[in-house]
Amino acid sequence: MPTPHEIVARLTLEEKASLLSGQDFWHTQAIEGVAESVMLTDGPHGLRKQGGAGDHLGIGDSRPATCFPPAVALAASFDVDLVHEVGARIAAEARAEDVAVVLGPGINLKRSPLCGRNFEYFSEDPWLSGAMGRAWVEGVQSGGVGASLKHFAVNNQETDRLRVSADVDERPLRELYLRAFEHVVTHAAPWTVMCSYNRINGVHASQNHWLLSTVLREEWGYRGLVVSDWGAVKDRIAALRAGLDLEMPGNGGVTDAELVAAVAAGRLDEAELDRAAARVVELVRRVPRPGTETRSLSEIHAENHAAAREIAARCVVLLRNEPVDDTPLLPLAPDQRVALIGEFARSPRYQGAGSSRINPTRLEDALSELSALHADVGFAGDDLTEAVALARDADVAVVFLGLPAEAESEGFDRTTLALPADQIALLEAVLAVQPRTVVVFSGGGVVTLPFASRVPAIVGGFLLGQASGGALADVLTGRVNPSGRLAETMPLRLTDTPAYLDFPGERGHIRYSEGVFVGYRWYDARELDVAFPFGHGLSYTTFDHDDLLVSGDPNGFTVKVLVTNTGTRSGRDVVQVYVGKPGSQLARAPRELAGVAIVDLEPGESTVAEVRIPTSALAAWFTGRGWAVEDGEYHVAVGSSSRDLYGHTHVSIAGDDLREPLHLESTIAEVLADPVAGPLVAAGLADAAGSDGADDVEGVGQMMLSFPIGRVVKMAGGGVSLDDIQALLDAANAERR
Ligand code: BGC
Repeated sequence: MPTPHEIVARLTLEEKASLLSGQDFWHTQAIEGVAESVMLTDGPHGLRKQGGAGDHLGIGDSRPATCFPPAVALAASFDVDLVHEVGARIAAEARAEDVAVVLGPGINLKRSPLCGRNFEYFSEDPWLSGAMGRAWVEGVQSGGVGASLKHFAVNNQETDRLRVSADVDERPLRELYLRAFEHVVTHAAPWTVMCSYNRINGVHASQNHWLLSTVLREEWGYRGLVVSDWGAVKDRIAALRAGLDLEMPGNGGVTDAELVAAVAAGRLDEAELDRAAARVVELVRRVPRPGTETRSLSEIHAENHAAAREIAARCVVLLRNEPVDDTPLLPLAPDQRVALIGEFARSPRYQGAGSSRINPTRLEDALSELSALHADVGFAGDDLTEAVALARDADVAVVFLGLPAEAESEGFDRTTLALPADQIALLEAVLAVQPRTVVVFSGGGVVTLPFASRVPAIVGGFLLGQASGGALADVLTGRVNPSGRLAETMPLRLTDTPAYLDFPGERGHIRYSEGVFVGYRWYDARELDVAFPFGHGLSYTTFDHDDLLVSGDPNGFTVKVLVTNTGTRSGRDVVQVYVGKPGSQLARAPRELAGVAIVDLEPGESTVAEVRIPTSALAAWFTGRGWAVEDGEYHVAVGSSSRDLYGHTHVSIAGDDLREPLHLESTIAEVLADPVAGPLVAAGLADAAGSDGADDVEGVGQMMLSFPIGRVVKMAGGGVSLDDIQALLDAANAERR
């Protein structure tokens, strides 16, 4: 079989160029006998396949597909196997619908809780985003369907998203914003990577050679295809040169003609065009023949709906469950009269708006699903008087609150973290007559919960997909013991959040002034109180943790902890390992998530949870040098959230030699720290101080520490020559090698 390059070599310039943009909104261009047209479509929490004319705004109709929980909820499972399963199930629908590439996952970091598209992203933490993204890609691609890792990169807001420049320093860029992408690219090899709309430090992602070629291909070894976000290409020739292969959607051949003209005029090297065309041919060749899925679509839909309910229930986060009269309010007791209050109980919020909007095959609401499981359920929507009367007569009120659909979407950001005032008023009225009140929150982004300390139980439902109602009913009744964990911090105030002072930017620029302190890294470093910390989530059972053990080896270390289910129900614990580097050369957060273990335990059962952390996970970005692991002691904390840490220990890591070679611009302090040059220079300084007769030798010494040694020698004028010092430094450097 000819290679893609050999195939491309036989094409005319015009044919090659035609492969480099879409045939229409969702398909690649076909060339008879060479490349079929294949379909790329959204994604990510289901399939959004449109017939007829397309749109990427979520406006037009699409074929029914299973709407799984969007990333905001899926990440709360912390469960890579579950996410892999979702990917594989989406792939089955894609195969049955002849879709070649599903446009997801979105793994951008949640820099600000205001980002309108946070519901489509996993986390504020790059380790978790990377793990989730990798599982999703591997799941989809295990089904012979391609993924499109997006939005590459630093697309953390919707405001002015097609033009804004995300101005971010090298270290946060590498350690936070690119880290999850690097993980997914190097481990899961997505068939395609989608460049983002925005600029990065002034350069559009679609035209960013450093991003698309130097980092993605040269450093990470990416071999797949780079596709533009829909409409992200401003200058087609610059984009091709930068490493962007396929422009989407199609534009009737306008930009293909630009490429042809540029080659003809000698402004573009034809080899660059050949390379991109070969990648399109290669993509098309990976796609399985139509009809490889043998089950009917309706069979797949039925299976996927049942699975969607179980998956969604795994994503529910029990935020609070305080006892009232000695008993926690949840799960609901079978004989309780339940007042279900709030329109979201009847008309669920289950996904966000925009290009990811799925047309669900079915839709479960909590009212029907809870009524099917529980004998005595009454309902009142927003009619406040009715709701209060119902709550007063019930044993327990369950109030559904959340972000209205119009509050969050692709395309714009929120301006507040507050829930609508009428919802708060409804809750307060219910609380006044019914202290046994549970709040169920739905929404794709975090909100402030000013009532949190006065409501005994709070359930974080976020957006759970089409089986949202069933999943919530399962958790409320205890059919499922909740095990979800917050993948992002719930802050107390908008003004506490890391990007508050510069979000969403000004005059076309958004400065990432918080640096590496995003999410819990920020709240922990600043010792700010939060409503609910990253990683938090309760269970209907309880766990004990003992025998914490850390063992290091040349490639990393392993953390073990004995977990016992001490309650009366089977349940799942999510053991989280955080690592910190006390005394680091860099400004670092006190702790960063480095690994998790999930354990499922019956009552009374124990098991050893084990988390493996490779040394590479400890690498930090040293500007001017690159990735390196600092030598020495690391602090290891194990816990149930970033704040609830039940075990602390240390591990010694043999890292990289971060010492710079000594030179004449090395400071006295740096030279003194060297075992060879240090003692000689110290002796020299002591002599000099003595002969000067200075009263405050220590003070003078301290002051001199920041002076480069070459300049001190020059200022001293005579005595020791620069050549002598250079020889001393050379000897010290040689000793290090
Ligand atoms: C979105 C992408 C999406 C594409 C196609 C764009 O507006 O940013 O996430 O995949 O449209 O619908």
